[in-house]
Amino acid sequence: MSDKQELYLPSESVKENATIKDYEALYKRSIEDREGFWAEQANELEWYQPWDKVLDDSNKPFYKWFVGAKTNIVHNAIDRHLHSATRNKLAIIWESEAGEMRSYSYYALNREVSQMANILKSMGVKKGDIVTIYMPQIPELVFAMLACAKIGAAHSVVYGGFSYEALAARIEDANSRVLITADGGWRRGKPSNLKAIANEAMKRSPTIEVCITVKYNALDVEMESERDFWYHDLKALPIASPKCETEVLDSEDMLFVLYTSGTTGKPKGMVHTHGGYSVYTSTTHRMAFDIKPDDRWWCAADPGWITGHSYIVYSPLINGSTIMLYEGAPNYPYPNRWWQMVEKYGINVLYTSPTAIRGLMRFGDQWPKKHDLTSLRLLGSVGEPINPEAWRWFYEVIGGSRCPIIDTWWQTETGGFMICPLPITPLKPGSATKPFFGNEISVVDDEGNEVPAGEEGKLVIKNPWPGMARTIMGDDDRYADLYWGDYGDKDYYKAGDSAKIDKDGYIWVIGRMDEVLKVSGYRLGTAEIESALVSHPQVSEAAAIGLPHELKGNAIHTYVILKDGVVGTPELSQTLKEHVGSELGRIAQPEDVAFVDALPKTRSGKIMRRVLRARALGQDEGDLSTLEE
Ligand code: WTA
Repeated sequence: MSDKQELYLPSESVKENATIKDYEALYKRSIEDREGFWAEQANELEWYQPWDKVLDDSNKPFYKWFVGAKTNIVHNAIDRHLHSATRNKLAIIWESEAGEMRSYSYYALNREVSQMANILKSMGVKKGDIVTIYMPQIPELVFAMLACAKIGAAHSVVYGGFSYEALAARIEDANSRVLITADGGWRRGKPSNLKAIANEAMKRSPTIEVCITVKYNALDVEMESERDFWYHDLKALPIASPKCETEVLDSEDMLFVLYTSGTTGKPKGMVHTHGGYSVYTSTTHRMAFDIKPDDRWWCAADPGWITGHSYIVYSPLINGSTIMLYEGAPNYPYPNRWWQMVEKYGINVLYTSPTAIRGLMRFGDQWPKKHDLTSLRLLGSVGEPINPEAWRWFYEVIGGSRCPIIDTWWQTETGGFMICPLPITPLKPGSATKPFFGNEISVVDDEGNEVPAGEEGKLVIKNPWPGMARTIMGDDDRYADLYWGDYGDKDYYKAGDSAKIDKDGYIWVIGRMDEVLKVSGYRLGTAEIESALVSHPQVSEAAAIGLPHELKGNAIHTYVILKDGVVGTPELSQTLKEHVGSELGRIAQPEDVAFVDALPKTRSGKIMRRVLRARALGQDEGDLSTLEE
């Protein structure tokens, strides 16, 4: 947070085109009558049967929304569009790294999703099952998610960059019988071999009975008879009819589980449900990005992360937008790849992460300058605080100083945006600005009392909201304990971030307070990295910390105590880096591995990562009174 704060005001034309022209007035209303506000938003959608109660808070913190209503997110994302002109509009434009292009109207999307839904049904998938999906960013990934939802099954999408260990652990936790994957994807002209990783994972997770593989990169893969089916073979069978009824569900039925990193080694399966999530994601998308009927929307994230779930797939489809999907590297074959696609497809809104912006910024202005980017109306950022330098480049060079940047703060757990501007909001680079409607957000001390303006404290949300996760799958206690109940009778949601609120009410998120790192916008737990290191036979103990990195935001640095008699060599350091990469996936590969004789610990044996970080940065080590000698 810089003290010298620049303020970027919306232009006259932005103000003229804005649907919501008065944030304060609508905000006030949404707080005074939160349930009324959310009921009004819910009425923008179609329901099979309306709710009896907007919010049921009788069993805190297990809140329920739109109780008694019958719905299915697919009804709003696809079915209802089939009865309007949206039917013939493009739902998906997809481009592969090699330049292949496919597009689907809402009408075509419905047929594809129905076919996949019927195939899943024929495999015995039913309401209550969780299907694991491990795919590159191809249209079939979107079909698979929607097909599960359509028949009332939940999905668990595992990011395609994750290793077999991570995939196996998630399959096991979800107890999945069915896995949907692909032979592989492409990165910088090289094929990746997802099916081989899936095969390894399936050896470790015996629950999988059926694996459906989409042919995409045509890599030779091993298929096991009885268990493995090619998607194109199944699609040719009579079972794969393009007509399928959408299952009528309860508002609170599970839509998906998505695993995210926390403070322990075991990833948390965050549970989201049909009703509240439909309302929350579509409202935040529609209002924060002031979605227009002819928008071509590009959320350049991965569908394997919450950003992809909420803002590549579900909310834009509910709002009838055309979504852009791209499977490939942003700078392949040249660093103008994204800008070329913005121009070619006439993208109106580009929503991405600070790490992607920094990554493209370093190639210089000449690459975006080759292209006409005037179709862009708004830009968006998510994942970590955006540094003002990247903000200005995005604003000036990509947005032509014309497009407000919608910096959205939220989490896997929140389902959708919690803090974000509207196009008319005066912007301060690096601040996600103000709470979204319905939300009261504060920065508090350990007792839950608000800290004075400008002082750092803990970010809390003081109210329930429809998009909130309902629990951690199979662990209600952990959910209640981790996120709620620190402040006596104040029912505050603890975000785990530290933040400041300035005198104008702008919220400045500083970063995670717990042992969670944001590396290139991806969320990783230090505990996961440490347990991957300790799983190596030559390692006795390990600590992982994040240190600032120009492109990645944070880079992982690790400290390792070797087993007795093992000598720390540069080769071993390299081996350990690669070991973590193969256990958790390449994004988790540490920048370096340092060999040490001891780690700073508290008397209760907790590693003091704060001390390691301060030492690495040459800073004051702070209060060492709890340090064990
Ligand atoms: C961080 C991603 C600052 C934050 C949607 C949060 C941000 C964590 C922003 C959640 C932002 C996300 N400004 N920090 N605009 N957006 N974060 O679950 O630390 O992958 O707690 O969800 O990302 O990460 P997650």
